[in-house]
Amino acid sequence: MSKVTVVGAGNVGATCANVLVCNQIADEVVLLDIKEGVSEGKAMDIMQTANILGLNTRLRGVTNDYAATENSDVVVITSGIPRKPGMTREELIGVNAGIVKSVVESVLAHSPNAIIVCVSNPMDTMTYLIHKVTGLPKNRIIGMGGALDSARFKYFLSLALGANANEVEGIVIGGHGDTTMIPLKRFAAYRGIPVSTLISGAQLDKVAADTMVGGATLTKLLGTSAWYAPGAAAAQVVGAVLGDQKKLISCSALLDGEYGEKDLCIGVPCILGRNGIEKIVEFDLNAEEKALFAASAAAVHKTNAALA
Ligand code: NAI
Ligand code: 2OP
Repeated sequence: MSKVTVVGAGNVGATCANVLVCNQIADEVVLLDIKEGVSEGKAMDIMQTANILGLNTRLRGVTNDYAATENSDVVVITSGIPRKPGMTREELIGVNAGIVKSVVESVLAHSPNAIIVCVSNPMDTMTYLIHKVTGLPKNRIIGMGGALDSARFKYFLSLALGANANEVEGIVIGGHGDTTMIPLKRFAAYRGIPVSTLISGAQLDKVAADTMVGGATLTKLLGTSAWYAPGAAAAQVVGAVLGDQKKLISCSALLDGEYGEKDLCIGVPCILGRNGIEKIVEFDLNAEEKALFAASAAAVHKTNAALA
């Protein structure tokens, strides 16, 4: 029996719960929010959808009742405020740090062995904050950002190639920020063929640029940040853990010398399995990619300094 708690029943949390239920990723899901009635209502709506789809996962919505989350295997933290048009993810730090800290303490009081998936922004800094607050082993704290950014990269690649996005490979590493993420153009492939041999350098540069502002573009169109792909990406990370999938997904992980960096959480290729981040895979970056990674790490360090 697997149990997942999603904290925050807003756009991203509710979507994550919906994907967890509709893809039968967990046996039992608890959706928790501080706003009275919201998680109960959304859970009811999702369970009625599950009934229409003939599915049998259990989802329960609760208002701030952490006892209901007891013994969760994985806890996804989406609580906090989202960005509005013109805002950066970094501007959310003051409010979200307080929320994330109190939520993670309540979560661990009832599920001391849980693996934590952090979604709240600025995600790399919130993931780092969770490490600092909890002192948990680094495999148990996973920051979700690269899964989403990589999906956006593959989407824009598929448009440029006129190809099925599921036949395209692409990964984004670095910070989960408009200027800090690094779509690895050199590693992008279509059925094993380097994409750089299939589209022009200018086209590939545009794909990378569109990926980097992918979140901002949606925020401008929607008036708030996106939720369908973020919720699905969080559920994908949960599925890789619960299913012990040994899947390579870009996640924000605490580095201890990998990629030449220490004492920060940033997006790197990770093997996810039942123990969370089971391995950080070190790609053979060239000098230009190494320089981009170092600059991204410096920017994330700077944001982390605002926690003090
Ligand atoms: P939202 O405003 O729709 O939902 C946030 C929910 O958190 C609200 O329902 C609110 O009541 C709840 N909340 C606030 N404080 C709480 C607390 N102490 N305990 C429990 N619940 C609490 O926001 P949305 O769009 O769902 O975004 C959530 C977060 O995820 C934001 O910080 C956003 O920037 C971030 N995000 C991160 C992404 C990523 O790739 N890492 C992608 C998209 C969003
Ligand atoms: C996104 O990338 C804002 O992190 C959020 O959509």
